[in-house]
Amino acid sequence: MPSPLRIAVLASGRGSNFAALLAARDRGELAADFVLVASDKPDAGALQLAQLAGVPTCVLEPHGYAERRDYDLALFERIAASVPDLLVLAGFMRIIDGDALKPWAGRMINIHPSLLPKYRGLHTHRRAIKAGDAEHGASVHFVTAELDGGPVIAQTMLPIEAGDDEHSLAARLLPLEHQLLPAVVALIAEDRLALGEHGVTLDGEPLRKPLRMQGEKLVR
Ligand code: GRF
Repeated sequence: MPSPLRIAVLASGRGSNFAALLAARDRGELAADFVLVASDKPDAGALQLAQLAGVPTCVLEPHGYAERRDYDLALFERIAASVPDLLVLAGFMRIIDGDALKPWAGRMINIHPSLLPKYRGLHTHRRAIKAGDAEHGASVHFVTAELDGGPVIAQTMLPIEAGDDEHSLAARLLPLEHQLLPAVVALIAEDRLALGEHGVTLDGEPLRKPLRMQGEKLVR
């Protein structure tokens, strides 16, 4: 059995995806030690959740830093001090400088509420409805310097229904995100999933297309 994966989480908001990771750990589905929850927002719900769960927290606000790069390097220095194996961006609403990201290549993942490569950036639910898509979803991907552009690991899908607006669609997607993210992190904790020179591998085999959720399980 590998030792628990040391996980640091970055979150700007309510933290429901972080809560899903904690719940998966508590159910025994994820061998993880949460070593830090870091945020750019002092009032982020994720910080309160961390405090309740006894997870160390760190808040660093961007004002006071002349350049985004300076802020990002300072933030990532603090994160590095907690010596995580994996960084999980769970609703971290900032673009991160490439120099700050570089040391974490292959060790940082993000959950994004669209079927990447569609709809990088903001307002994904609204954009999917406006485009007349039949299907929407969320993706977990390795983070690279390109915004929401790193190799996709896994996706969850749901149909867009007549009468959906961005709020109803987001509300139906969120519980699926809460299954997707812990399932991906569990594969990393089990040492089954990695980012190699030629892309994502699962059990040593290249992943030719993203894994997808079938019920509560990830399948090829
Ligand atoms: C989620 O929809 C996630 O996909 C996106 O930001 C939202 C964060 O929600 N990146 P929460 O803070 O985890 O509740």
